[in-house]
Amino acid sequence: MKTILITGGAGFIGSHVVRLFVNKYNEYNVLNLDALTYAGNLENLKDIEKAPNYSFVKGDITDQHFIDKLFKDNDIVGVVHLAAESHVDRSITDPLSFIRTNITGTMNLLNACKDHWSSFEGRRFYHISTDEVYGSLGETGLFTEKTPYDPKSPYSASKASSDHLVRAYHNTYGLPVVITNCSNNYGPNQFPEKLIPLSINNLRNEKEIPIYGKGENVRDWLYVEDHALAIDLVYHKGKTGETYNIGGNNEWTNIDLIRLLCKIMDEKLDRKKGTSASLITFVKDRAGHDKRYAIDSSKIKRELGWTPSLTFEEGLEKTVVWYLENVEWLENVTSGAYISYYAEMYNR
Ligand code: NAD
Ligand code: TYD
Repeated sequence: MKTILITGGAGFIGSHVVRLFVNKYNEYNVLNLDALTYAGNLENLKDIEKAPNYSFVKGDITDQHFIDKLFKDNDIVGVVHLAAESHVDRSITDPLSFIRTNITGTMNLLNACKDHWSSFEGRRFYHISTDEVYGSLGETGLFTEKTPYDPKSPYSASKASSDHLVRAYHNTYGLPVVITNCSNNYGPNQFPEKLIPLSINNLRNEKEIPIYGKGENVRDWLYVEDHALAIDLVYHKGKTGETYNIGGNNEWTNIDLIRLLCKIMDEKLDRKKGTSASLITFVKDRAGHDKRYAIDSSKIKRELGWTPSLTFEEGLEKTVVWYLENVEWLENVTSGAYISYYAEMYNR
């Protein structure tokens, strides 16, 4: 059977993409390759792990020999590449692991496609990237596919570098690639180091929510399943060599977002109005904190007919409900290494 390789499929976005592909496409074997770092968790895929068109292999994309063997042993016709180090704060304290996985790992996969595919006909390398490669916006304006790259954090610099490599392999070797750059995702299965799940987890435990600086930074938020639907569309219908921006058309300052989240948490936990908001705590700002991200996603809408399906209020409520119904998942991922990460990051 033809195989689609999905890298990082045990992570937050990857697990939603794997599930969608496994449930929708009987004609492919979906092979999930993941190193199972702190961010990867096979519990995210419990419901589909026995599906006949799904398989999992534990491995590291920085290991070129392993990747070569994987391509030799499987008829891989396409790659959906999501494996990455993904958290900005971690990239500030440990840039090298971002260089290794995001740059070297991507290059290893590109080399495997270039060397093992005897013809590029019907093949595709799909690289999942971020809007953070474009840098930071002021009060106005939107990132388009033509916005010059201006990454500001070690994370975004490593993703920008990998995007450039993907385009270079298209230009130099004719590798059939496609790239998407998406805004901030939220939803079930996101590791509680990112703003929304970290805040839900803290509120659940009646702990302070740390807001960097004054909470005035702006992000555009997209529900993860809407991103997965966009990825399906681009993988199957996107034009080779093209880039598509994906966004929620949904900008929030961090403080307004957290106030909305606090309101939902009070309702869901049956707490007195204002209980959660009293836990908002302003802390030292992130170094080099990007002010604003906002995406113009008119190209993917116009050319492929994609639009987000959920409002932010609906998506955030679904997210809160998922975390409150999956306390065991939260407790598993926040034991052990998470405790020392949290203590180091937030001095608490
Ligand atoms: P995540 O951190 O939740 O998951 C990353 C996954 O990659 C994990 O399962 C981890 O085990 C795996 N992984 C890490 N290093 C690996 C290695 N060396 N070899 C094999 N597997 C490895 O990340 P996410 O939020 O799901 O992001 C997925 C992709 O989407 C990333 O490329 C990220 O840059 C991009 N992206 C994320 C967002 C967002 O808001 N989360 C937005 C736009 C783009
Ligand atoms: P994050 O979820 O880390 O995503 P990114 O940095 O990739 O946008 O952060 C989202 C926003 O929330 C960002 O402006 C930083 C801010 N933030 C906090 O204020 N406190 C926190 O504890 C975290 C993790 C993030």
